Amino acid sequence: MDGPHAVRARGITRSFGEVVALDGIDLEIPPGRIHGLAGPNGAGKTTLLGLLLGLAVADDGTLEILGRPVGRGLGAPDGVAGFVDGPGLYPSLTARQNLAALAALHGRDARTPAIADALDQVGLTDVADDRTRGFSLGMRQRLGLAAALLSEPRLLVLDEPANGLDPAGARHVHGVLTRLAAAGTTVVLSSHRMDDLEALCSEVTILATGRVVFSGPLGELADESRELDYRLRTSDPEAARRVTADTVGITIVRTADGGHDPSVLVVRALVPALDDLVTRLVKAGVALRELAPVVSPLEAAFLALTQQGDER
Ligand SMILES: Nc1ncnc2c1ncn2[C@@H]1O[C@H](COP(=O)(O)OP(=O)(O)O)[C@@H](O)[C@H]1O
Ligand SMILES: [Mg+2]
Repeated sequence: MDGPHAVRARGITRSFGEVVALDGIDLEIPPGRIHGLAGPNGAGKTTLLGLLLGLAVADDGTLEILGRPVGRGLGAPDGVAGFVDGPGLYPSLTARQNLAALAALHGRDARTPAIADALDQVGLTDVADDRTRGFSLGMRQRLGLAAALLSEPRLLVLDEPANGLDPAGARHVHGVLTRLAAAGTTVVLSSHRMDDLEALCSEVTILATGRVVFSGPLGELADESRELDYRLRTSDPEAARRVTADTVGITIVRTADGGHDPSVLVVRALVPALDDLVTRLVKAGVALRELAPVVSPLEAAFLALTQQGDER
């Protein structure tokens, strides 16, 4: 990818009184990517996204957006659009009128076709002429995205955009973001759940208590070097328990699925030991009905990293 980084941050700190929300953040996001910002509640995601949007300034450190240093003044840097804590909307105006008002406010293209196209892209055409007062969180999120689209941003910043989206809404947002990135726009979006980000992002930065605990490709995060818990459902739980006890490198974490399903064992293992167990079960005439990680490898890595962050 050519051109300057969409975001380059060095040693960014930001405190609210005693609370250190961001504690020396280094971050580089190349252009044209969909970059995920993950972390538990309170990790500092919204604070960091607010800095990118010019809603606040850092106490210390340097921040470059789209190749230009961000000064001490507030206001979104050129080419940046998005919102944190939900978009600001006029409740008594319709979706279409909201977009026209926002476009006019920012001296942008308020032509009807651009607005209709933006509404169509986020899947709000059917409710375009309804007042936004009655809109659900997911509809508000999508209207906010439509508003951001109108400004043709080079960096789009979205805070927890998956919140409140139904599957159809999520598909629209997914489509819009993928098309934007393909056309060269950088998208930075946050979530407290890895599975939200997995579908969209190839790279993530994980924050825990204001620090970066991981930044890089998702593939590096979900490696197989970590023991995971697996649900194991078989035709003969008694025999399965005996075979498991005889297999090296496997621990039985629980027998039965929370006491509900007696045919389930929960075992903890690395992948090679698990392979060994499956082979032994089959040889012992025990049929395998289900074998799946209790939490995905990605979610497990996320939990491990962010708990580690909490302990510091
Ligand atoms: N305006 C504020 N005033 C006081 N504390 C704040 C403010 N904004 C954020 N914080 C604190 O900073 C920390 C990070 O918050 P935030 O960036 O909202 O995290 P996240 O979005 O990851 O949940 C939290 O401890 C939060 O309570
Ligand atoms: Mg937040």
